[in-house]
Amino acid sequence: MKKSIEFYTCLIEERLSRERFAHSVNTAEMCRELAFVNGYEPEKAELAGILHDICKEDDESDLKELAFSKFLEKAGIGLDPLEKEDKLWHAPAGAVYLRETLEVNDMEILSAVRFHSVGRAKMTKLEKILYLGDLVERGRDYPDVEKYRELALTDLDLGMYEAFKWAINDCLKKKYRVCRNTYEGYNYYLKKIMQRKA
Ligand SMILES: [Fe+2]
Ligand SMILES: [Fe+2]
Repeated sequence: MKKSIEFYTCLIEERLSRERFAHSVNTAEMCRELAFVNGYEPEKAELAGILHDICKEDDESDLKELAFSKFLEKAGIGLDPLEKEDKLWHAPAGAVYLRETLEVNDMEILSAVRFHSVGRAKMTKLEKILYLGDLVERGRDYPDVEKYRELALTDLDLGMYEAFKWAINDCLKKKYRVCRNTYEGYNYYLKKIMQRKA
């Protein structure tokens, strides 16, 4: 039986700290707004938003077990080499947890949760909505957040291009490696934006 958004919201409140629960609620609201302006189902986007960080506070060993599940590989959304090494597991683990424990079987929601932290090329509309909703929800206060929020609300592809640029720059500054999904996403949306101008 399909469960209500209230059911999932209570569950997330129990699983996460107060701050991360507030972030999840804000992300759900932002996803709903982004869905509304982009002709996508607001309820589904809201659900992806409330659920996206479901595993964020779990133990590393649990995350690893979930993230390395064969289900993701079989579905063609497995981990890239750096995701395996660098413990970028809460997003893929979240997708597997949702499917195995909460019986969420909607692949659009599962892949949006799986890619919400690293992104990828050729993202679905819900993947873009969740990635950007997470980044620009109204509780965020990093410099230029309003600019990124405005961009996300106006143009999802341009929003993704700017988001990838920001994420890669951040990796460079911190001397982190950039995972394959992220640089492939940057290349893909850069090309898409440049083709518009041609
Ligand atoms: Fe996350
Ligand atoms: Fe998040």
